[in-house]
Amino acid sequence: MEKLAIDGGSGILERSNYKNWPVITDDDRRLVNDVLESGIVAGGTAPQVSALEKEWAAYTGAKHCLTTCSGTAALHMALAATGVGPGDEVITSAFTFLASASCAIHQNAIPVFVDIDPRTYCIDPDKLEAAITPRTKAIIPVDIQGCPCEKDKIMAIAKKHNLVVIEDSCQAHGALYKGKHVGTFGHVGAFSLNNFKNLCGGEGGLFITDDEDILNKGILIRCFGDEVDEETHRRKYNASILGYMYRNQELPAAHARAQLMHLDELNAVRIENAEYLSRELAKIPGVIPPYCPPDCRHVYFMYNVRFDPEAAGVKCEPRRFREAIEKALYKEGMLVGQWQTMPVPAQDLFQSKLGYGATGHPWSVNEAKGIKYDYSIENYPVAQMLCDTYTVIHGIHAPNGRDLMEKIVAVFQKVFGDLDTVLKHADDKIYPGGDAKLYGAS
Ligand SMILES: Cc1ncc(COP(=O)(O)O)c(C=O)c1O
Repeated sequence: MEKLAIDGGSGILERSNYKNWPVITDDDRRLVNDVLESGIVAGGTAPQVSALEKEWAAYTGAKHCLTTCSGTAALHMALAATGVGPGDEVITSAFTFLASASCAIHQNAIPVFVDIDPRTYCIDPDKLEAAITPRTKAIIPVDIQGCPCEKDKIMAIAKKHNLVVIEDSCQAHGALYKGKHVGTFGHVGAFSLNNFKNLCGGEGGLFITDDEDILNKGILIRCFGDEVDEETHRRKYNASILGYMYRNQELPAAHARAQLMHLDELNAVRIENAEYLSRELAKIPGVIPPYCPPDCRHVYFMYNVRFDPEAAGVKCEPRRFREAIEKALYKEGMLVGQWQTMPVPAQDLFQSKLGYGATGHPWSVNEAKGIKYDYSIENYPVAQMLCDTYTVIHGIHAPNGRDLMEKIVAVFQKVFGDLDTVLKHADDKIYPGGDAKLYGAS
């Protein structure tokens, strides 16, 4: 048996086996250079942001698109444009990025969390109705890690209760549910363009809708709520509604346009890498690869695996087992480690309910009326189980391919071939994780 790296042996992988994201081509160089040559670097209707809006609408099949400065801005703008306000409740998933919930707080609304489906890790539609109250105004389902959530069931429930649906598709550019792009099922779809994402602009966001009224409100909200004179096209410096500064700019938009030219081929690489890993890792008892629902295209923004000590044939508490495996994989040279470490409602912000100025607002709006918000972790057992047992395998993005995937499988086989040694090192001071440079950050 080959000695594990965690036990003094040599590792299988080196950092140089990993290639970084995003993949930069001559299209990025050309479009970014066009911006520099044009001398136009900003403006809500500037050439690159306008072209990106047209191209993203055409790509997804949405009627309208607005660029924003972040995915968070797109989500908040969506809540503001659909009339969500103080005291309204907004339902989202217990396993997501904070912004899916904090955008509701930014609108003085109150996030309500629903537990997740144990296979897709998306919001569990069968638990959705129990969370709806007379105060519920909107649902923000999330296509988590690139996996489309159950659009049909969610939309049917939303229709029955007359709720706004804002799809948080920030992690799922190009994902399809029954042949239709995620982000096009609800009233608004929101996407992030940050450096990690399948479609990258460095930073930025995209807001899509078929509804002209929502579009027009979005245009206002994106730029301070400021009216534009119809005849002169000049800003009136008269805000008709509350808005923000959520515009994108020319350089990130040009970069995102160039990336969009290659989105399908880059997603195809992720899918091929993910499917290969899933096929091979499923052969190792105790390793649970991610699930792709039928009739869906999962775009594997992140590639998760879960670990089950019982199936692996060892007696160990699941969280300890996951941490021990992560350490052993990491020491073999694999870039591996968790993303979210706890369900979102477990975060201090929700446990303490200290919002604006540490005042307890917005929860206090309804709590003053005797309504209680219970963010006890026991309410989200599936999200907690996931956080105990999952890890993210980094590097499945292009231009990484079969060479790296084969090495990753070899690392798994080596580590799972010597679990006694892995568990002996469970308390070693090792800190697994990816690295910022892998995703174009410093
Ligand atoms: C699910 C989800 N929602 C919202 C966001 C917010 O996007 P941004 O970072 O562009 O504001 C992210 C980004 O990390 C995300 O992953």
